[in-house]
Amino acid sequence: MGLLYGIGIRIMNFMVFFLIVILLPGLPPRTTFPYKAFHITPAKELKGALEPNQHLDGAERLLEGRVYGPECLIARKNEIYTGIHGGEVIKLTADHVTHITKFGQPCEEIFEESRCGRPLGLAFDTQGNNLIVSDAYYGIWQVDLNSNEKKLLVSPNQELPGKDVQRKAKIFNTVTVDQKGDIYWTDSSSDFLLLDLVFSSFANPSGRLFKYDRATNVSKVLLDELFFANGLALSPDEDFIIVAETGAMRLVKYHLKGAKAGQSEVFVEGLPGLPDNLTPDADGIWVPLIMAADSEHPNGFNIFANFPSIRLFLARLLGLFELPFRLINNAFPNKLAQRFIHFIGHGESILLMAPKRSTIVRVDWNGNIVGSLHGTDRSAGAVSHVLEFNDHLYLGSPFNRFLARVKSPRAGRQPEIKVKNVRVPEVTKHGVNLMQCIAAGFAVIIGSIFMC
Ligand SMILES: *[C@@H]1O[C@H](CO)[C@@H](O)[C@H](O)[C@H]1NC(C)=O
Repeated sequence: MGLLYGIGIRIMNFMVFFLIVILLPGLPPRTTFPYKAFHITPAKELKGALEPNQHLDGAERLLEGRVYGPECLIARKNEIYTGIHGGEVIKLTADHVTHITKFGQPCEEIFEESRCGRPLGLAFDTQGNNLIVSDAYYGIWQVDLNSNEKKLLVSPNQELPGKDVQRKAKIFNTVTVDQKGDIYWTDSSSDFLLLDLVFSSFANPSGRLFKYDRATNVSKVLLDELFFANGLALSPDEDFIIVAETGAMRLVKYHLKGAKAGQSEVFVEGLPGLPDNLTPDADGIWVPLIMAADSEHPNGFNIFANFPSIRLFLARLLGLFELPFRLINNAFPNKLAQRFIHFIGHGESILLMAPKRSTIVRVDWNGNIVGSLHGTDRSAGAVSHVLEFNDHLYLGSPFNRFLARVKSPRAGRQPEIKVKNVRVPEVTKHGVNLMQCIAAGFAVIIGSIFMC
């Protein structure tokens, strides 16, 4: 009786606290769209073309300790270009790392990301020897590779069209250039910066797909309310474009030409994880999943899609939890508070709950899943980009401190070359770090205040 009574009181207290948090008007964070329920198609079973294998196990680790977070990879003439933590775009040749450009401010620490900048999207221009770069914080730039001259194309201060609401882009993510030189690009969220990624997972979808017209310097919105708009794949004939809707575990097709021009439809849904950058080629698309999901491990990013009040509660709770650190940091900018805010928001914490499977899906141009590559030894890590190059798949990741690669499953025609320099990777340490301790400590304190 006493025990039941005690539990009852605690539940009541929690309900009161829950209601206060979701009902109090004006609590942070503010979002573009109200919290509404939406449906996400659950992850498909790992059967048929998704049958697990070990292809990504024993991935080689190149340039270990010299590249941190190579998120996006493109290649030309035996050189790989990538963007890393700290905000630099670099070029990798056999054993060299060369600086190409940077849009952010000089900065010392990774968690000063909004100052450093974070290049997430790269594309070679079809008009001249330029690199087109999308920096999550600093917008879209054209960089002349001969002179290194930089030109801003889309500014983070610019109000951009949406389906109804005009607003700035908050996470400039992917860019792709068509034959005419126009640029398709994604804004993953118009509510939160990349360092507050976790908040985007609670908010209603606010990502957009744009087409930037080179002649007029104007971006037109093609799709709005995407749940973290991310990678892009322009079809070989440029008659449609595929956009990865990361949080919704699906790919969306937008028709550019023909009778359906201007319309969109689902291309692939129920992916067993969150799709990131897309790599198109003549036969189809490589679709890396930055975070796995399956029927036993629903995804932390979209688990509460159907429960808007829980999402609102969690977003506000996390906002309240961070508030003292934000206030302290505004008054006395300091690294500990910045590190804490970055740790809470940047998303590696959601990764802790996901299955430890690395997966890359292969999709054809008709939207069929035709194959998949998997790994469980964590040597490849969480894959954000696949670059098929010289018979290998180079694997980008925002979390890796190296560039991973495996043999391409399509490399069969070449005689097998014994790869030198293979390192057996140590299993990633799963230890608890300082920030997790602080976070857990606060959670316990807040929990005990309201549950007692
Ligand atoms: C394009 O427009 C943006 C926003 O007005 C501006 O910041 C940028 O400098 C312009 N770029 C070019 C190349 O005209």
